[in-house]
Amino acid sequence: MRRAGLAGLGLVAGLWLLAVVALAGLWSGRGAPEPGVEATSSGRLLRPPSQAAQKTFRALLTLPGQPLEGPGESGQEPPPPPVPADPPRGVAEPPVRGGIFWSRALEAQVPPGFSAEEAASWLRAAREARVVSLERGGCGRSSNRLARLSDGSRACVRYGINAEQIQGEALSYHLAGLLGIQERLPPLALARVEARGGQWAPVRDELRGSPWADGAVVSLARWVDNLTDVVAPAPWRAEAGAAATSGPRRLQPLSAGELRGLSQAQLVELVQWSDLIVFDYVTANFDRLVSNLFSLQWDPRVMQRATSNLHRAPNGGLVFLDNEAGLVHGYRLLAMWDKYNEPLLRSVCVFREATAQRVRELHRARNAAAQLLHLYRTREPLAGVLGFLSEQQAQLLQDRVDFVHKHILHCKAKAASL
Ligand SMILES: *[C@@H]1O[C@H](CO)[C@@H](O)[C@H](O)[C@H]1NC(C)=O
Repeated sequence: MRRAGLAGLGLVAGLWLLAVVALAGLWSGRGAPEPGVEATSSGRLLRPPSQAAQKTFRALLTLPGQPLEGPGESGQEPPPPPVPADPPRGVAEPPVRGGIFWSRALEAQVPPGFSAEEAASWLRAAREARVVSLERGGCGRSSNRLARLSDGSRACVRYGINAEQIQGEALSYHLAGLLGIQERLPPLALARVEARGGQWAPVRDELRGSPWADGAVVSLARWVDNLTDVVAPAPWRAEAGAAATSGPRRLQPLSAGELRGLSQAQLVELVQWSDLIVFDYVTANFDRLVSNLFSLQWDPRVMQRATSNLHRAPNGGLVFLDNEAGLVHGYRLLAMWDKYNEPLLRSVCVFREATAQRVRELHRARNAAAQLLHLYRTREPLAGVLGFLSEQQAQLLQDRVDFVHKHILHCKAKAASL
């Protein structure tokens, strides 16, 4: 258990460091922002911030001229209270094996997401279905709509303010497929808005009143009922909070047995978080945990609030929503956000073995972008319309895969030396 414990220590210590770096870096040189502001690019504002504070954040996060977004995608319910701890785990079953991999027993307890079959069957149906109605609200930005489809299902239709958002959303979805973590993302298809086309005929009048350009490519993401908010896992939450409210002097090294002290439910959630952090690092998605870390500068308790674009399904599994900041937008803003994304990745030294394996394969094959393109073209009929990553973005993707691989090797070496 020593190794597992130290891996946990590394994880938590890394987040301390991150919180401290975030605070030091962000508090310097800027006026104290309005308290109580929580904003993300999906626009969830717990309290309306002053225009100035909002502008500061938005200016950093988005393109000029981009309107502010509407209410969050599915914050229908407040975050649930912290999950009560299960009885302590028996000593017999360490949560980590081989120094850096989640145990198979833990992985087996991760609630299932969208299976490949379920996703494929919804996508087939959604591509053929007619859009019966379009409603405002519930799907993020004010230009997005919640669509009811003729097959009875619902989908969030996202209209990109610029093409890179829809492209980023679609490519991130297929990259998740390449990494073997796609079950955590709602199935996603591209669609072309055509007021005269059969698919959109029932909502022709709504389309006339919408900001959507005829012929625009939008994304259709399967709607998921009864999602609830997700707060960052306990170790991160506690330490980030301590760092923000009382300064680094309150930070105390955690004992090596820290991971063992976590409940089964917390460990199962951390398994999913480890995939999320790898995914967000590779795609350079700044609009999730990273945007919360950013908000630490004006909201010391932000780590105890809901994480942007991350929700919990009724079965307890995490759902990675709204990935439009990934790959394209994120790569354009690397300089700004990697100071969060990179330490966040470095703070994680326990992985799902299958994910580490995929990363290793993509590293060895040196063709992550080519594999992504192949998958995208195979699975998405409209892949050709939005275009693909530029050569430079393709290189960045490979570099980031390589970086994750190197980091995993580093964790492995560290664990072996204990
Ligand atoms: C969502 O919640 C409502 C009300 O609690 C319930 O009736 C419904 O069955 C739930 N749907 C799913 C898919 O869990």
